[in-house]
Amino acid sequence: MASAGGIARNPSNAVLHIQHLSVHDMTFQAKEKAVPILATIARIEKKSFPATEALDFSTSILKKANTRILFVVNQSAPLSAVAYCVCVRHRRTILLHKICVAERFRGQGIGKLLMDQILKRAELEGCDDLELWVDECRMPARNLYARSGFEERCRVKGYYGPGRTGIKMIAHFSR
Ligand SMILES: CC(C)(COP(=O)(O)OP(=O)(O)OC[C@H]1O[C@@H](n2cnc3c(N)ncnc32)[C@H](O)[C@@H]1OP(=O)(O)O)[C@@H](O)C(=O)NCCC(=O)NCCS
Repeated sequence: MASAGGIARNPSNAVLHIQHLSVHDMTFQAKEKAVPILATIARIEKKSFPATEALDFSTSILKKANTRILFVVNQSAPLSAVAYCVCVRHRRTILLHKICVAERFRGQGIGKLLMDQILKRAELEGCDDLELWVDECRMPARNLYARSGFEERCRVKGYYGPGRTGIKMIAHFSR
C-alpha cells in the first residue's frame, strides 16, 4: 500500500483529499475484499469505455499470468475503488493496458498518483520499459502520459478501428 501527501485540486463536487487515498495491489487482497473492489472497477470500466474495449473484471482476471491490477481507494470507503490500472508484464517490459479514474473524481491528481506508483513499482521490479497504446483522441490520457515521462514511438492508423489512430508511447528506465 502507498499513500500520498498534498491536497488535491477540486474541479467538481466530488472532492477527494489526496492524503486520504492509497494505492493497493489486487494480488495481495483477500477474496472478500477483492470481489467488491473488482465489482466497483467493473462499473467504472463500463461507464468509461465502449463495450468493445471494456475489460472483463470478473474474478477470472485474477488468474491471468503476468497481469497485475493496482487500485486506488479513499480511506472512508475501503471496499470501493476510485481508480485502477491493469499492467501486463513480458520479461523486462510492462504493458500498461489500462488506466482509469472514475469520472466524478477526475482532474484532482488521482491519475498522476496512480501513474507515479506504476512507474515506481516497475522500476523497483527491474523493468527496462513501460509501454502503452493510446487513442490519439484521448487527450487527457495523452497529457498524463507525456507529463509522466512517456515518449511517442509510433502511430498506427486504424489501430482502434476505422478512423481511429493508436499511438505507442514508452517510458524507459535508465540505470
Ligand atoms: C486519463 C485519466 C486517467 C487521467 O486521470 P485524472 O485523475 O483525471 O488526471 P490528473 O488529475 O492526475 O491529471 C494528471 C495530468 O493529466 C492531464 N489531464 C488530466 N485531465 C485532463 C483534461 N481534462 N484535459 C487535458 N489534460 C488532462 C494533465 O496533463 C494533468 O496534469 P496537470 O494537471 O499538471 O496538467 C482520466 O482522465 C481517465 O480515467 N480518463 C478515461 C479513461 C482513459 O482515457 N484512460 C486512458 C486509456 S486506457
